[in-house]
Amino acid sequence: MSTVLSAVAWPYANGPRHIGHVAGFGVPSDVFSRYMRMAGHDVLMVSGTDEHGTPILVAADKAGVTPVQLTNENNRVIVEDLVGLGLSYDLFTRTTTGNHYAVVQEMFSTVYRNGYMVEQTTQSAISPSTGRTLPDRYIEGTCPICKYPEARGDQCDNCGNQLDPTDLIDPRSKINGETPEFVETQHFFLDLPALADALGEWLAGREASGTWRPNVIRFSLNILKEIRPRAMTRDIDWGIPIPLEGWREQPTKRLYVWFDAVIGYLSASIEWARRSGDPDAWRRWWNDPEALSYYFMGKDNITFHSQIWPAELLAYAGQGERGGEPGQYGVLNLPTEVVSSEYLTMGDQQFSSSRGHVLYVRDFLAEFGPDALRYFICAAGPETSDAAFTWNDFVTRNNSELVAGWGNLVNRTAAMIAKNFGEIPAAGPLEPVDEEVLAAVRTGFDTVGELLRHHKLRAGIAEAMRVVGEVNKYLTVTEPYKMKDPSQAERLATVLHVAAQCVLDCNTILAPFLPHAANRVHAVFGGEGELMPMPRVDEVSDLDPGVGPNDETYPVITGDYSATPTWESHPVTVGAKVAKPTPVFTKLDLDEVLADRS
Ligand code: MF3
Ligand code: ZN
Repeated sequence: MSTVLSAVAWPYANGPRHIGHVAGFGVPSDVFSRYMRMAGHDVLMVSGTDEHGTPILVAADKAGVTPVQLTNENNRVIVEDLVGLGLSYDLFTRTTTGNHYAVVQEMFSTVYRNGYMVEQTTQSAISPSTGRTLPDRYIEGTCPICKYPEARGDQCDNCGNQLDPTDLIDPRSKINGETPEFVETQHFFLDLPALADALGEWLAGREASGTWRPNVIRFSLNILKEIRPRAMTRDIDWGIPIPLEGWREQPTKRLYVWFDAVIGYLSASIEWARRSGDPDAWRRWWNDPEALSYYFMGKDNITFHSQIWPAELLAYAGQGERGGEPGQYGVLNLPTEVVSSEYLTMGDQQFSSSRGHVLYVRDFLAEFGPDALRYFICAAGPETSDAAFTWNDFVTRNNSELVAGWGNLVNRTAAMIAKNFGEIPAAGPLEPVDEEVLAAVRTGFDTVGELLRHHKLRAGIAEAMRVVGEVNKYLTVTEPYKMKDPSQAERLATVLHVAAQCVLDCNTILAPFLPHAANRVHAVFGGEGELMPMPRVDEVSDLDPGVGPNDETYPVITGDYSATPTWESHPVTVGAKVAKPTPVFTKLDLDEVLADRS
């Protein structure tokens, strides 16, 4: 049994989530975390909203509100989106907390003390017409790497590479289109070349493990070849102050949002421990070299998780070329695996809130409920290549796989038990056909478990549905619905007992994918309480008030997942009441679904 950190990418608090977002980081991390808990591992799943940086300022400017107002509002919206999907965070917090500010500043101070944060003179943009500093967010131009014409001064949204404003080809002001002038300014750069050997060694070990998705390890090894110092401070007035004398006071110099956001995995673990009453509890996930850590994100985040974040951790531990000593958090674990998804596209286009081409999580949940979406993302999501969402595919999978495959098995088994016995009957002697189906389902725990452990959701859910198919076949072959003669009563009881056992085992196997449905199936067969624990929202106060910019209470997602069932067959309870069921899944009509949106 291992200690497992599930580190889930932090969504920007610049608007509600669309289904492309949650296909990348949300559902995959939850399925894995739920499975690992079932398999007996000690999981800590953390994340929060990413509230600093350019994307927030752009959205606040557009909405005519302050960044604090914008992030307070969107943090709440995003919390609702994610809890509605049943994502089982131990803590989902935010980057504007006093705790996060302190952890980020401790990381910066130690990296600086160890000599990996070097001050350099660089170019900063000013507006020729006003003479004022032009923040990175107001500079746009062509990406030097992929030639995308609307890259921003800090990052290209098309290829995901981080940029400096001076990298842009044909830079222009977003305010009035003029060409910015560049003047000299001071910034701190993370000395990545001094960490390159240590990074390379770590990545070589990760490559040798053979567990990373091929595209992710390839990309990570590639960017190592062109490693250079990266600015970790920005000309921006919204963010975490630089904890050095002469810098802290400067209102337009702040830590780069990406320096701050990735540290959220650590700060959220610390916040979770502080709120749990054992402030050092986080160390089990971070200081124990045996602990495992999995980072979940979309592909535009790979650079930050396979290069910048490990580099920060190595620099913090003093493990680069310049040596050094770890700070108060000690030597922190590097990622075991960077689990990146590709993009979910809408038909053949990329989801984009800015282009109005989007399906919001909250609308989707209101119309179809969480597990229909979870099923689609698991079965057809962008696991190792881009994948398209189409209504046709969504409705077809819902109807022919969820409803006709799984839902139908649950319904007919429960209906026959309700009608004939009203409770789960005891079995008589088992025949080979009974033993065979029971064994086939039990094997599913091994095959599906092995796939989930390696983040193979598509293959995992396909295998689970294949097992469901075996049980459907069993009912077709044994024909319990034809056993009407009293002389067949014992055989009928046996077949329905075996079917109930198989259905409930399938339900356990499907539970990480479809936790809400799992709770309903559990109830249909007379189970008490929830099978799969669900997250809840708590309204909390900042643990360190007055440090961050926000002085209101805020919602966090948390939960007690200790009652999670174990990943194995659980014998059914003979005598558990089974009433005539109402269907667990709903059949959809493609024409109606399409009509609703034209
Ligand atoms: N906010 C970033 C994005 O949506 C992701 C940040 S992940 C983090 O692309 F962990 F680094 F914060
Ligand atoms: Zn690009």
